[in-house]
Amino acid sequence: MTSTPAVRAFAHANIALIKYWGKFNLEHNIPLVSSLSLTLDSYGTTTKLLACGDEHDSFILNGEGQLGLPAIKVQRFLDFVRMKTDKKQKFIVESSNNFPTKSGLASSASGFAALALAACTSLDWELSKKDLSRLARRGSASAARSIFGNLALLHGGVLSDEQAYAEEISEKLAVRLIIAQCSTAEKDIASTDGMNASSRTSPFFPVFVDQQPKDIDDALLAIATNDVAMLGEIMEYSTLKMHSCCFSAFPGFWYWNESTISVMNAVKKLRKQGATAYFTMDAGPHVKILCPSDQCADIMAELKGNSAITQLDQAGPGRGAYLLDEPQI
Ligand code: PMV
Repeated sequence: MTSTPAVRAFAHANIALIKYWGKFNLEHNIPLVSSLSLTLDSYGTTTKLLACGDEHDSFILNGEGQLGLPAIKVQRFLDFVRMKTDKKQKFIVESSNNFPTKSGLASSASGFAALALAACTSLDWELSKKDLSRLARRGSASAARSIFGNLALLHGGVLSDEQAYAEEISEKLAVRLIIAQCSTAEKDIASTDGMNASSRTSPFFPVFVDQQPKDIDDALLAIATNDVAMLGEIMEYSTLKMHSCCFSAFPGFWYWNESTISVMNAVKKLRKQGATAYFTMDAGPHVKILCPSDQCADIMAELKGNSAITQLDQAGPGRGAYLLDEPQI
């Protein structure tokens, strides 16, 4: 047994306003397109790394020991950090999410961002935030963005490992994201499988990729001019194009359910009534609704009675990943 201290890190989830979908490089997990996200102040993952004398790492998620793919992904990630730091230390990794896991609510983003920070701290690897973001990207590309707070841009494309990092955007927006959960089940198509199927077989995928730089530029302009409606319009366009790549894959597949459509319709209706509300969906059925902060309470009140929604939460811009306490032996 070594006396390497336990380290606890926390990272918030983030939701892409302009979606990443498709990988340029599978081995280094480099996204084929850039993406833009909002880090959420209310959803997040706490990860504790405890050094152990075992031959393997173990991974406990939400109190349950994990075997199979989730454990392999964590082990592979730690192997990479050990290789880079020339250390052999194994760990018991204990993670807990304060929101549903693997349901398209960005648990891998907050999970790998917290793990990256805890692993580097445990193994005395001092990284800049940019390099920490590159490291987190290896676990899950969206995790690169959760290293940062507020709004984050993740560079993707035909890029090297060096070039594929996220950075925080300096502008702040007075917005909130309402999270309308539309199912309590875990998703059955992992995002990597979904994006690989889309990029291999959807005739729409090349169009999605070609238009991404313009969507990013338009979204950055909307942010710079504080235009929440313009940002919302581009955000809806982005999510609908991403999901169209799933519908048009061969065979087609979808992450939505009946409730997803029902909430999208409710958002459109609210908009007709004058609200500034726009939807976005990830690799799961839940609908996230972007709105100006001062309209959030009214929109929440309108959605409260909607029977399609299993839980209604809201979040504002959150901070980047951080250590929860000083290392303790
Ligand atoms: O990074 P991953 O593998 O969790 O994939 C994220 C995919 C989307 O959530 C649909 C889009 C995004 O940019 O976060």
